[in-house]
Amino acid sequence: MNTQELKHLAERLMAEDKGLLAMDESTGTCNKRFKALGIPQTEEYRRKYRQLIVTTPHLEESISGAILFEETLHQQTDDGQSFLAILKQKDIIPGIKVDQGTTPLAFFPGETITEGLDRLTDRMISYHQMGLRFAKWRAVIHIETDLPTKTCITANAFTLARYAAICQEAGIVPIVEPEVLMDGAHSLQTCAAVTQDVLKEVFSALYEHKVSLEGMILKPNMVLPGLNCPDQNSTEVIAQQTISSFLKVVPAAVGGIAFLSGGQSPMLASERLNMMQLRYGSQIPWPLTFSFSRAIQQPAMEIWKGDDQNITAAQQALAHRAACNSAARRGEYLPAS
Ligand code: 13P
Repeated sequence: MNTQELKHLAERLMAEDKGLLAMDESTGTCNKRFKALGIPQTEEYRRKYRQLIVTTPHLEESISGAILFEETLHQQTDDGQSFLAILKQKDIIPGIKVDQGTTPLAFFPGETITEGLDRLTDRMISYHQMGLRFAKWRAVIHIETDLPTKTCITANAFTLARYAAICQEAGIVPIVEPEVLMDGAHSLQTCAAVTQDVLKEVFSALYEHKVSLEGMILKPNMVLPGLNCPDQNSTEVIAQQTISSFLKVVPAAVGGIAFLSGGQSPMLASERLNMMQLRYGSQIPWPLTFSFSRAIQQPAMEIWKGDDQNITAAQQALAHRAACNSAARRGEYLPAS
């Protein structure tokens, strides 16, 4: 493992003013979002949609890296340029989702474990040869009356650490994503406690697996009340709880923190990131940015609707949300824009 190289890559991904674009929806997730908008659920339409994203003018001004899904790696534009080549021309670092989704955790109803470790070393080597320089693995934690269990947290922390070590051995920066879901009626305080428990376990496992913290990026949820919680806290309180939770459990050496959006509206996700930078930007030890999928893409997908005539307007919406998040990363986002 070349730790200096990994650290340098992580620094490029966390470049000032920029963040990550997650465009790695699995076929099932992408089709689900297409279906809701009446877009045909075929490989060709997924290709057209991803073409729209990678060819968006000015995307590179706000985006340092794009997380791709396996299907996209070999796809090309209408005029035969590979998506990977286009990203490289724009100096957007290509990354890849390497987990293979979640499956029920045996004996623990309601909980899941993420799969994909089999032959991951070989896959990593070939991804590196293709020019991919970072990867993503998402673990999912559910909050319910008696959930999450310690077993679920430990099992997911272990697999995240195994994945991260395999990435680094192959010269790939791991994005470590333990997502505590927003689903449910739990309070902000419960989310804060669970998020801290999960991150403590994840960093303990990363330490045991000798993962270089400088050469990795954490992709966490923001600390939020459940979607059905009657008390929806203010942006100030959410920013304060999120930062104070991370200060307790995320080592200062970590290469960066890049939030997932998790189903927040695009504007709220930008507003909350902005508030964290505005209030705490000078006190936090890690670069803090975004790694959103829905909070960047959703307005563009709704405009596109699978119709070529809407491509330009959809690209403008995509570039706009990316620019809003770039502004939020500097603490300069204008709420409601
Ligand atoms: P959302 O921003 O839509 O939560 O997606 C981020 C992601 O990459 C999930 O793995």
